[in-house]
Amino acid sequence: MSAHIRAATAADIDGVLALEQLFPSDQLNRAALRRFLRVPNARVWVAVQGKVIVGDVILLLRLNADYGRVYSVVVAPAARGQGLGARLIASAERAAKAEGRNRLRLEVRSDNTAARALYVKRGYRVVATLKSYYDDGADGLRLEKALRASPIGHSPSSHQA
Ligand SMILES: CC(C)(COP(=O)(O)OP(=O)(O)OC[C@H]1O[C@@H](n2cnc3c(N)ncnc32)[C@H](O)[C@@H]1OP(=O)(O)O)[C@@H](O)C(=O)NCCC(=O)NCCS
Repeated sequence: MSAHIRAATAADIDGVLALEQLFPSDQLNRAALRRFLRVPNARVWVAVQGKVIVGDVILLLRLNADYGRVYSVVVAPAARGQGLGARLIASAERAAKAEGRNRLRLEVRSDNTAARALYVKRGYRVVATLKSYYDDGADGLRLEKALRASPIGHSPSSHQA
C-alpha cells in the first residue's frame, strides 16, 4: 500500500512519539511535540499508510535565521527503502524554501550510513564535524543544502571579505 504525506495534527501525537522512540538518540517528548504542532516556527509532517503513521519529519524555522533545520526524520523499519525518507525531506525543503530560507541544515551521527546516503543523494554537504555531539559520545556531522541557486559569479566564498 502506498503512503501519503500530510501535515501532522494533535491526533497524530501518539503515532509520532511511537516512531520517534524507535530512534533512541532523539530526545523528543510529548510536551515538545505538542509545542512543535502549535508554534508557527515548527512544522511536522507524517507519512501515513492506511491509518498507520510510518514516518515523520520535523522542521524548525527559527526566527531571523536564513536557514531551516530538520530536527528529526524517521521512517518505520517496515516502510524503509521505499522513498519515504526522501519524500519527507523533500516536504521540509519545499516548506523552508517557501518560507524564504536559503539553506536547510541538519545534524546526523557520523555512523548513520543510511541517513548519510539519503542526504548525499539529495545534495547535502558536510559543513562541520561535531566532536562527541551525541550523548553516547558519537561524533555528529552538520550537513547543509542550498535551497536556491546562487546568482552567477556569486558563489558563497565570493562574499568573504
Ligand atoms: C534514514 C531513514 C529516514 C531513511 O528512510 P527511507 O525511507 O528508508 O529512505 P528512502 O527509501 O527514501 O531512501 C532514499 C535514499 O537514501 C539512501 N538510503 C536509505 N537507506 C539506506 C540504507 N539502509 N543503506 C544505504 N543507503 C540508504 C539511498 O540512497 C536511497 O536511495 P535509493 O533507494 O534510490 O538507493 C530511515 O533509515 C530511518 O528512519 N532511520 C532511523 C532514523 C534516522 O536515522 N533518521 C535520520 C537522523 S539524521
